[in-house]
Amino acid sequence: MSSRATITVLAGDGVGPEVTEQALLVLLAVEERFHHTFTVHHGLVGLDAIAAEGVAISDATFETCAGSDAVLFGAVGGLPAAERRADGPRPEQALFRLRKEFGFFANLRPVRPLATAASPLKPEYLKGTDLVFVRELSAGLYYGHLESVPGKPSEIRRDGPEAEAVDTLRYTEGEIERVVRAAFEIAAGRQRRVTSVDKANVLSSSVLWREVVDRVARDHPAVAHEHMLVDACAMRLIRTPSDFDVIVTENLFGDILTDEASMLTGSIGMLPSASLGLRRTAGGMFGLYEPIHGSAPDIAGQDQANPVGAILSAALLLRHSLGLHREAAAVEEAVEEVIREGYRTVDLHEGGRTVIGTREMGRRVRDALARS
Ligand code: IPM
Ligand code: MG
Repeated sequence: MSSRATITVLAGDGVGPEVTEQALLVLLAVEERFHHTFTVHHGLVGLDAIAAEGVAISDATFETCAGSDAVLFGAVGGLPAAERRADGPRPEQALFRLRKEFGFFANLRPVRPLATAASPLKPEYLKGTDLVFVRELSAGLYYGHLESVPGKPSEIRRDGPEAEAVDTLRYTEGEIERVVRAAFEIAAGRQRRVTSVDKANVLSSSVLWREVVDRVARDHPAVAHEHMLVDACAMRLIRTPSDFDVIVTENLFGDILTDEASMLTGSIGMLPSASLGLRRTAGGMFGLYEPIHGSAPDIAGQDQANPVGAILSAALLLRHSLGLHREAAAVEEAVEEVIREGYRTVDLHEGGRTVIGTREMGRRVRDALARS
């Protein structure tokens, strides 16, 4: 059956445009190969939006996203230090606005090592590794500054004898429950194991987190669950990553642990993500899809960035927002095939492999897709 869908592309800063272009070309190849009709809009976000419109994302661009089934996002960031002003617009604000106003509380970050020899871990440690993070994305320390939430300060105070700074880690039961429910539902369709990560030996927010996890777990008797302290999890991710199936955790822990986990795949350039909330589309859930790597301004424009994280994000878009499961799997298999054939972007340090650029990696994935 052929589908119609509207996708807004926000390529953003640094390497964002290069990797997003390859992800979009893969989506267009899927459109043609499987006879769908995708309407694509482009919008400014990050530094270009600040330069042209004075804000990291304008209301008009935001509305374009709101009218779509999904947002394909590149990266934002890289404002030169000399141009940073405490009260000035920052490119990252675009992400925070999109995450908050669209209610994207669940950030899925699957980790599957494909190019195992590129990982700093010995291959035997990686055996059987196939896990997914469900990172809470709309609350916690990241949103301590929101005026709309009383009693959540995030500020630097300079009126005392010495400067002090404060951030607030606050979670409501409801904010915990909805992301934990999402994690259990995802686990039910996988290996049926949830690891909830917190710091309950120190933080009140983590004590509440555990209570909610235990309560939600009672609704999912077929899914096993465990609690793990975040420091222990950081260690276990390296020692026995195959122990994990679904890891659910609060915003900042998830930010840190997913960068760590990306090394299981050899490069942060390999990891995709999906940000989801509650809004439905014709085929699934409205969502935002981005590689986790960020803008990497040092290599921007050099055809060196790894587009795999962006392309796998496009696969997640097909699956979660458009309900195109076969197409999503075809994209993932095409990526696996190109990696199996030995092609690597320069970030995947491995001897004896053919190093190719961003564009060639994208083209090879499209060729593999066409052959499938
Ligand atoms: C991520 C990024 C962002 C975050 C930055 C760019 C604010 O690191 O998506 O993981 O911390 O959430
Ligand atoms: Mg991060």
